Amino acid sequence: MLQVQGVSTYYGNLQILHDVSMEVKEGEVVTVIGANGAGKTTLLKTITGLAPPRLGQVVFQGRDISRRPANEIVGLGITLVTSDRDIFPEMTVYENLLMGYYPRRKDKDGLGPGLEQVYTLFPRLKERQQQLSRTMSGGERQMLVIGRALMSAPKLLLLDEPSMGLSPRLIAEIAQSIQHMRERGVTILLVEQNCGLALSLADRGYVLQTGQVTMNDKAANLMTDPTVKRMYLGG
Ligand SMILES: Nc1ncnc2c1ncn2[C@@H]1O[C@H](COP(=O)(O)OP(=O)(O)OP(=O)(O)O)[C@@H](O)[C@H]1O
Ligand SMILES: [Mg+2]
Repeated sequence: MLQVQGVSTYYGNLQILHDVSMEVKEGEVVTVIGANGAGKTTLLKTITGLAPPRLGQVVFQGRDISRRPANEIVGLGITLVTSDRDIFPEMTVYENLLMGYYPRRKDKDGLGPGLEQVYTLFPRLKERQQQLSRTMSGGERQMLVIGRALMSAPKLLLLDEPSMGLSPRLIAEIAQSIQHMRERGVTILLVEQNCGLALSLADRGYVLQTGQVTMNDKAANLMTDPTVKRMYLGG
């Protein structure tokens, strides 16, 4: 579905990604793990057109999208959930979800199935649908931004650090919803500093170190790899 081929991305003269290659197949959950500043968010920005690569290509469903504008890339079916959990604070939960549907507003399927799917995945959002979204807790906001992204019926969902700053109980809830999305066949690229969590959810993983892919393997193999254990899983 997605192939990143030999991508180098710069901010001005500063090179962040060095010849990065990776891929995501349809129906897979793939994770990119790495420390602070490794370039994980930059990789997501490269894929979504927010930080186009200087060298290399991003191919989505056979099309080179590396130099397409970000709004076109969303239109092709790649939706990014950023780590800042930006919502429309003065709108209700329901209205925020509607905003996610906006790119598909001409679909003849209508709102129904997507909204029901989001409410099934996140019953909390259904309970709180009339609540002003600025009053939602951190974990609930994370559910809301993922739910809003799903309303656009993405072919590929990119998640940037969904566990960041959440309590263990909420992390478990988010993990469960990622598991459920995976069971429903949503293709996901998950970027995380919480490497144990990410590897437990993913089929395959890539290790990004100072802008370079240093390892890639099945998630189960990475989880037991001595180097990964030492560097990312606290021994
Ligand atoms: N707009 C920008 N201009 C210049 N440098 C940037 C910009 N955005 C990020 N960087 C730098 O690029 C490097 C990689 O940042 P990036 O946000 O991709 O890392 P990350 O792996 O997502 O880190 P974290 O886990 O902390 O979110 C960092 O050194 C960062 O300071
Ligand atoms: Mg980041």
